[in-house]
Amino acid sequence: MLKSFRLPADHGTHVLEDYAKTRSDFDWKQAETGFSWFQTGKINAAYEMIDRHVAEGKGNKIALRYSDATRDEQYSFADLMHLSGKAAHLLRNQAEVVKGDRVFIFMPRTPELYILFLGAIKAGAIVGPLFEAFMEDAVRDRLSDSEAKVLCTTPELLSRVPVDELPHLKHIILIGDTVGTNGFYIDYKQAMQEANADFPIEWMAREDGMILHYTSGSTGKPKGVLHVHQAMIQHAQTGRWVLDFQEDDIYWCTADPGWVTGTSYGVFAPWLNGVTIVVRGGRFSAEDWYQTIEKNKVTIWYSAPTAFRMLLSAGNALPAKYNLSTLRHVLSVGEPLNPEVIKWGWEVFQKRIHDTWWMTETGAQMICNIPTMEIKAGSMGKPLPGITAAIVDDDGQELPPNTMGNLAIKKGWPSMMRAIWNNPEKYNAYFTLNDWYVSGDSAYMDEDGYFWFQGRVDDVIMTSGERIGPFEVESKLVEHPAVSEAGVIGISDPIRGKIIKAFISLREGFEATEALKHEIYQFVKNGLAAHAAPRQIDFKEKLPKTRSGKIMRRVLKAWELNLPVGDLSTLED
Ligand code: WT7
Repeated sequence: MLKSFRLPADHGTHVLEDYAKTRSDFDWKQAETGFSWFQTGKINAAYEMIDRHVAEGKGNKIALRYSDATRDEQYSFADLMHLSGKAAHLLRNQAEVVKGDRVFIFMPRTPELYILFLGAIKAGAIVGPLFEAFMEDAVRDRLSDSEAKVLCTTPELLSRVPVDELPHLKHIILIGDTVGTNGFYIDYKQAMQEANADFPIEWMAREDGMILHYTSGSTGKPKGVLHVHQAMIQHAQTGRWVLDFQEDDIYWCTADPGWVTGTSYGVFAPWLNGVTIVVRGGRFSAEDWYQTIEKNKVTIWYSAPTAFRMLLSAGNALPAKYNLSTLRHVLSVGEPLNPEVIKWGWEVFQKRIHDTWWMTETGAQMICNIPTMEIKAGSMGKPLPGITAAIVDDDGQELPPNTMGNLAIKKGWPSMMRAIWNNPEKYNAYFTLNDWYVSGDSAYMDEDGYFWFQGRVDDVIMTSGERIGPFEVESKLVEHPAVSEAGVIGISDPIRGKIIKAFISLREGFEATEALKHEIYQFVKNGLAAHAAPRQIDFKEKLPKTRSGKIMRRVLKAWELNLPVGDLSTLED
């Protein structure tokens, strides 16, 4: 593995020139004065993202450039104001959405997704975006936990929605060729034609719910992380400090809105700053990605280590065929950014790749490499102004530099989650060490205040930048008729960071074959999602369990790494 090295600070048109001074002077209240609500007292994030720019004379500016294999379209801020107004009317009048209702969006990345997303927020709903690759079990869990009232989806994805098992679901809006509207199903195209564009925006309180992202922990089903309207303060401010948004930027965030990066930084941060975004539908291909940068003249690019590693492994001859010289600023999030990848970025784009650290729960960036900062390859950077981060021990005591411990953040930043949906116990579990939010990551801080990621404290697995709870996969595995017991861990993979490995004991009468491994892999893939399926399976006679019957993943990890298994005093037998 490549050792760390340093890259000097960038110089340019940066908003945060003096980190130390800003850090000591800054208060989040200062970041609010730029919003219209500061004068009007009326709050709605969709208004601030779209309508405000039209009111300020920027209606003709392009807000969204969309392309996939069959479509190539662009929408101005005025277009999106008009269309999201219609979508809000549709949701209010036909789908009966009132303030606080959960409206879920489960569809591929298309302009309609963004229009419905904005429309739902305008109507005062709490939006729940779902990744299009989710299968039936994953969809059911999220819609039933949140008691979603409305779902926006496509006819193709409808087969994965177990409508009969979702008593709270009152309407489904179908985007695509449909048979038309009846009481339950609403035909998007037809309803949009009829809807009035002039929607009276639902004004919200700062602390009203805005978005619900489901994410995994080490135990239990995925949990709904709730963010409120005033989170936008931090989205907007970090858009300037970290993403370095300027008036004429063309910005491409490669994340799907089903994940928090795709909303906080795919939608909120750029549009709050009036910046043009690029959205590319369809699957990953190295050629298409380079072409997307060239064709759109992308200036700012926010992606993930997994994606960079896939591009890296496609070779350096490929990017040489494209004009990538418009790129000014490149960023990464989701998993450790290897020094190898930073070196590659420097060679291929002549750009520093800036690592950023944050989580679904933090709602926005927390620890980052800002443009004016020297980069120490392999470090996540330093806490942003307004953020107090520290390494604490298990009693909440701050640890000195270069000591590994729990990465924790002082409570109270604007985009902090406000609840775990229907689960105050899970929410409180994050705040057991006084005023600290405990991230679940272990890290250390060096003598210059740079933070270095070391791993997860719990059993959460980051694979291809996506977060998998082992429990969710284990629960699915034991539904398979051949599986008696299952334990799941993450193991290292050069491209995906980690992949999922399952240890399985079989029921009587089943034989441990390669064909069965494949069948079990497919079973999880078809039930949950491809990224949750175990790419490696080991069949074992018996799995290590505690006396209370909990599978000891620690022992599975030791097996995998050929390490001593440690203290087994709690083992079953
Ligand atoms: C977990 C959060 C919000 C962005 C997407 C992931 C890991 C995130 C980094 C980084 C090393 C990172 C952590 C964190 N992570 N950024 N720069 N370096 N690890 O959000 O799905 O909520 O996952 O992703 O382990 O706890 P998420």
